[in-house]
Amino acid sequence: MEVTEIAPDLYRISVFVPEINLQFNHFLVRDDEPLLFHTGLRRMFPLVEEGVRKVIDPAKLRWISFSHFESDECGALNQWLDRAPEAEPVCGLVGALVSVNDFSNKPAFYMGPGETFSTGRYRFRFIPTPHVPHGWDAGVLFEENGRTLLCSDLFHQWGDREPITHASIIDRAHETLMQMESGPFANYVPYTHRTGQILEGLAQLEPATLATMHGSSYVGDGARALRELSGVMQEVLGPHVAVAA
Ligand SMILES: [Fe+2]
Ligand SMILES: [Fe+2]
Repeated sequence: MEVTEIAPDLYRISVFVPEINLQFNHFLVRDDEPLLFHTGLRRMFPLVEEGVRKVIDPAKLRWISFSHFESDECGALNQWLDRAPEAEPVCGLVGALVSVNDFSNKPAFYMGPGETFSTGRYRFRFIPTPHVPHGWDAGVLFEENGRTLLCSDLFHQWGDREPITHASIIDRAHETLMQMESGPFANYVPYTHRTGQILEGLAQLEPATLATMHGSSYVGDGARALRELSGVMQEVLGPHVAVAA
């Protein structure tokens, strides 16, 4: 487990699992009302908790958020709610009403498109991104002051990667997507008639940091990176017209 401050008050708690050559990254925002984005897997809780403890008292966590209902995103939600009595889950309306409010020991504070909440110095905007990366309930959080996009599985990269990079991550993300499509986890990311439009909406936020769940976070021209990702997803996953020989 490795903890790195990748932007002011934004800590990346990374757990690498060599057996599957994959990092799981959890993001902690240190503020008056601390926020954790991605709870981690249920069985990973002790490691992520140790990571949070290096930065703040875990009992002081106030917000627990994630993109979509999946074990690495929110599996340890109830363990965190036990650990931090003031904490509340935060997610989109669909996530709360379809899954989270049943699964969670505490009802979620849920948001509609573009709604915001503040943790003190930082302000988070919720953007629903249905089926991007996957899941009807998917959404992302955009931190407006530091221009950080907490973008979940987007830009997924295999391997034990450096915490941040200023070099483009699009080739790694492209390679990972191609590999996924040729193995048992094909169809990990669907491609819908709204995929391009959703990614363009995220690009227009002009993020300076892309905080990725699997692989390095990227610091640089986030708009360009998201438009490149849109091109890659269209190429790899988009509809293709069969050409007769
Ligand atoms: Fe996911
Ligand atoms: Fe994930």
